[in-house]
Amino acid sequence: MRPTAAAVTLAASWMLVGCAGPADAPGTPADESFADIAYALPEQAPRRFGFGAEASAARVARWDTDVKPDGEGLPAGKGTVAEGEVVFMTYCVACHGPTGTEGPNDVLVGSDPWEAWPGSVTVGGYWPYATTLYDYISRAMPQLTPGVLTPNQTYAVIAYILHRNGVVAADAEMDAQTLPAVIMPARDRFVVDDRQGGSQIR
Ligand code: HEC
Repeated sequence: MRPTAAAVTLAASWMLVGCAGPADAPGTPADESFADIAYALPEQAPRRFGFGAEASAARVARWDTDVKPDGEGLPAGKGTVAEGEVVFMTYCVACHGPTGTEGPNDVLVGSDPWEAWPGSVTVGGYWPYATTLYDYISRAMPQLTPGVLTPNQTYAVIAYILHRNGVVAADAEMDAQTLPAVIMPARDRFVVDDRQGGSQIR
């Protein structure tokens, strides 16, 4: 069935009311009661709904957890490869496999950039900064319960993953000093994109 002209006009009028355009806007619906409804609601609404709470410094700090490539933002703590193996087998193995290569989720171990592609990229083959492991794991892993690892456990599991990737020795210990000092194999696989736009895009 084709819509009638009247139905189309009505639909367009509703869209204008929905957008709460100025009353004298072209196409303002002839039926002023539509506009009354649209304009009356904000005045009747309470100034505050009572939701939420003050964003105190302590609350903001709980979310302000980003770790920069140079290590800025890393917390105190430390962990070894051996300790990290225990963490990995407890919290990560179900999804990343006993050696970090089996899955079923992202493959964490490997040095070839294309090894786990498509679907995932390996830490050894793709990640340019070791510090990103802290940032990412502390906010996102284990996937179903992120936030359960202590800083010591996070440093430890990072040491284990880096060791599995052949990046640090079996007796390595990761902390806020040693982690930023790790040179990732993939660091030089990235270039700074300093293009300005326009004709420079190539
Ligand atoms: C319930 C399943 C699950 C568990 C448990 C889990 N992960 Fe993951 N992990 C995932 C999934 C799914 C992804 C891919 C997420 C995405 O791409 O958004 C992922 C991605 C990752 C990545 C990024 C891989 C890459 O190269 O992109 C790292 C690192 C990682 N997980 C580490 C861990 C660590 C460490 C643990 C244990 C503390 C853990 N994961 C536990 C499911 C899981």
